[in-house]
Amino acid sequence: MNILILGNLGYIGPVLITHLRKSWPEAYLVGYDNAYFASCLLMDEVLPEVKLDKQYYGDVRDITTVVFEKEKFDVVIQLAAISNDPMGKTFEAPTFEINTSATEAIAVMAKNHGVRSFVFASSCSVYGMDGKKIKNESSELAPQTAYAKSKIDSEIKLNAIADDTFTVTCLRFATACGISPRIRLDLVLNDFVASALVNKRIDILSDGTPWRPLIDVKDMSRAIEWASNREAKNGGSFLAINAGADESNIQVRDLAYKVSEELGGIDVSVNSDASPDTRSYKVDFSLFKELASDYQPLMSLSDSINEVGERLMKIDLDKDFRKSSWMRLVYLNNLVNNSLIDSHLRWIVY
Ligand SMILES: NC(=O)c1ccc[n+]([C@@H]2O[C@H](COP(=O)([O-])OP(=O)(O)OC[C@H]3O[C@@H](n4cnc5c(N)ncnc54)[C@H](O)[C@@H]3O)[C@@H](O)[C@H]2O)c1
Repeated sequence: MNILILGNLGYIGPVLITHLRKSWPEAYLVGYDNAYFASCLLMDEVLPEVKLDKQYYGDVRDITTVVFEKEKFDVVIQLAAISNDPMGKTFEAPTFEINTSATEAIAVMAKNHGVRSFVFASSCSVYGMDGKKIKNESSELAPQTAYAKSKIDSEIKLNAIADDTFTVTCLRFATACGISPRIRLDLVLNDFVASALVNKRIDILSDGTPWRPLIDVKDMSRAIEWASNREAKNGGSFLAINAGADESNIQVRDLAYKVSEELGGIDVSVNSDASPDTRSYKVDFSLFKELASDYQPLMSLSDSINEVGERLMKIDLDKDFRKSSWMRLVYLNNLVNNSLIDSHLRWIVY
């Protein structure tokens, strides 16, 4: 099986590649990424990309059919994105160009070149607000941010491209957590663990009431494996599906207490003056359970907390880690401020 993974040099990509290499040792794996975060490796370790057969460096906005003419891909996995709300707010136009327009153009190219399965990393953030009602795939969408809107727009475009020959699976992932060679500390569980370790306290930036479903990067990789091999008879030629587990829905303050409990009774402070975070959603994962019964999440919240904790303890993490390069927006802003990329998030070639 020949698989093209776009956006493989980020947080999820390296974990996915390791997983796919184990599941399908004979697969021909190709990465494509413009490498914004390539140097953000957690430790001196083997470069994750050595597990690939080939790595392309390029912007998904510029990808041409040449890539598809050179190799005959069976599966395309589209992870490349401006991948969170703060980055989407700062770089709104590129967010739509990369997350939506490029995704549509790549899907058309893929279909025209005989790709049979297209997997798109969507997000439960499309549900946006109102944590009281549990959201299933038919629920009304209420995106609160440019990032969430870009994911919905992509799903709509992909729906129009899918057919009997071209299966599209949009995995509406819960909020990611867990360990990766390119860790991110701008994710709620990882942030709480880092905070507990270096500051010996967890400061919740919101009032702690929002609901968030969580999923470990290892379980995201298993979901992507399932989607790569999904046939139209299992869910239709186009499928947008929540990917996670019902028991991973948790309120942010309860997550903080869980991290505190796992790491030995760390103080938790709630910012009771914070205005309510409207991004709150509790999600129903029963369709995923039904269609992907052999690919259900295996990592508990405790597993993820302890794995992140053990790994972060081995590095010299700055107390000010919220200003560090483990925060994607901080890192991108640094690239812009140092004139390495422009405001459209294109590398500046000297
Ligand atoms: N992390 C989460 O909580 C989460 C949850 C739901 C969905 N997702 C989605 O999963 C995907 C992967 O997430 P991640 O956490 O690994 O994100 P990430 O930001 O760590 O990685 C994204 C990768 O895309 C690449 N990229 C961005 N713009 C590009 C461009 N113009 N051309 C080529 N490459 C480009 C970046 O260099 C980076 O390597 C994203 O689509 C994200 O929206 C993530």
